Amino acid sequence: MGKNVLVIGQGAREHAMVWKLSQSPGIGRIFAAPGNAGIAEIADCFDVKGSDTRQLLDLIERKKIDLTVVGPEVPLMEGVVDEFEARGLRIFGPRQNAAILEGSKVFTKNLFKKYGIPSAEFGSFSDINEAREYLREKGAPIVVKADGLAAGKGVVVAMDEKTASAALDMIMLDQAFGTAGHEVVIEECLQGVEVSVFALCDGKTVSYMVAAQDHKRVFDGDQGPNTGGMGAYSPPPFYTPDLHQRVMNEVLEPVVKAMAAEGRPYKGVLYAGLMLTADGPKVLEFNVRLGDPEAQAILPLMETDYLTVLEAVIDGTLDQTPISFFHRASVCVVLASAGYPGKYATGRVITGLGDVSPDTMIFHAGTRRQGTQLVTDGGRVLSVVSTGDTVAQAIDRVYSEIPGIHFEGMHYRKDIGFHALKL
Ligand code: AMP
Ligand code: GLY
Repeated sequence: MGKNVLVIGQGAREHAMVWKLSQSPGIGRIFAAPGNAGIAEIADCFDVKGSDTRQLLDLIERKKIDLTVVGPEVPLMEGVVDEFEARGLRIFGPRQNAAILEGSKVFTKNLFKKYGIPSAEFGSFSDINEAREYLREKGAPIVVKADGLAAGKGVVVAMDEKTASAALDMIMLDQAFGTAGHEVVIEECLQGVEVSVFALCDGKTVSYMVAAQDHKRVFDGDQGPNTGGMGAYSPPPFYTPDLHQRVMNEVLEPVVKAMAAEGRPYKGVLYAGLMLTADGPKVLEFNVRLGDPEAQAILPLMETDYLTVLEAVIDGTLDQTPISFFHRASVCVVLASAGYPGKYATGRVITGLGDVSPDTMIFHAGTRRQGTQLVTDGGRVLSVVSTGDTVAQAIDRVYSEIPGIHFEGMHYRKDIGFHALKL
C-alpha cells in the first residue's frame, strides 16, 4: 500500500510539492493543511493551520498519515518537527534548534564568524545608540536587518545614511516587526550576482540539488519594491561546476559541520542565498525550506522520486541515495494581482487555465473557489512554469502560454530568466 503524506502550507510552492508527490510510485493519499484551490484538485485539503499542532496531530491519526512535509518556515521555527518526533511520527524538516538558521540573523552571523564561513562584515546590536554609532562609523551603502522573521520585509539595503537610520528607527523604535526587531544586524553592502543554492541534509551528508535565480523586484529590469518573488528559473548558466565546488567546500559543508558541532544537527532543505562577489561567494542568508518561487521551477526538474528523497533525509540515508535532476531548464513566472506587493483587490474571476501545453504546469497560490468559478485570493495568484531543453526555450514556452490566462488586473514580469540569456 502507498504512503499517505501530509503537506503543510498553502502556496504555489506547496502545490508544486503536492504535484511532484502525486507522481511518486510509492504514494498513497495526499493531504494538505490548509492547501489551496489548486492543491484541492489533487489532494484532500483540511482547514488546519501549520501552527496548530494539536489539530495536525489529530489529522495524522484520523487519516493514517505516514509522513509529513513542511513547506513554510514558521511552523519549523515554532517546533512542529520536535512535536512530531517526540511522538515517533515521521516528518521532513529541521528541528526548532536548527531552524534558527533562518529564524535569527544574529545567531547565523555569529555562527559564520565562529566557523569562518564567508559572509558580509557585520555588527549586531540590541541597543539603538550603539547601532547608530556603528552606522555613523561605517557610512553608506549599508544593510540593516531585523534579527527575526519579518515576512521578507526586515532587510533594508540603504544607499545613504538617512535611509539606514530610518530603517533602524522602524525596526527598533517603532517595532514594525515586533520582537523580531529587538536585535539588528548591520552589515556591509555586497556587490554581485545573487543565486539561490538548494541542498538536502540528513544531519551528516550534504546532497546538492540545483541552483536557481529568483526575481524579487515587482517590475521588469529589477525595478520597484521587493516582493515575495515574481519568478525564478533554473539552472543559472553562471553557476558552474567549479563555483559549485567552492560553495560546497566553503559554505554548505562547513555550515552543516558547524550546526552539528553546536548540538543542532541539520535535517531538511538547506537554501543558501549567495552573493557572487569579486572575492568569491558570500552568504546573504540561509533559509530552512524550499524557496518560493524557486521550488516551482526546480521540482519539475527533479528526476529522483521525491518521496524517496524525503524518506532518505528522514532516515539519514542520503549517502546511499543519489539525487539527480534532468538536464533541462525551467522558468516560473508569477501572475500577481494589480497593486501587489501593496494593496490589491481579491475575488477577480480567473479564466483560461484549462488548455496549457504538456510542458507547462500551473501552480496556485492565492486562489479560491467561488461556486463554479475560480477567483483570486491573494497578491501572488498563480505560478506558471514551463520546462525546455534550454532556459531560452523554457522562456519562449512560458510566455506563449500566459496570454491565454486572464483575471482583471493581472500583472507579471516579462523578463524572468533573461539574466541567463545575457551571458
Ligand atoms: P535576506 O533576507 O538577508 O536575503 O535579504 C533580502 C535581500 O536583500 C537579498 O536577497 C539581497 O538582495 C539584499 N541583501 C541582503 N544582504 C545584503 C548585503 N549584505 N549586501 C547587499 N544586498 C543584500
Ligand atoms: N525566494 C525567496 C524565499 O523563498 O525566501
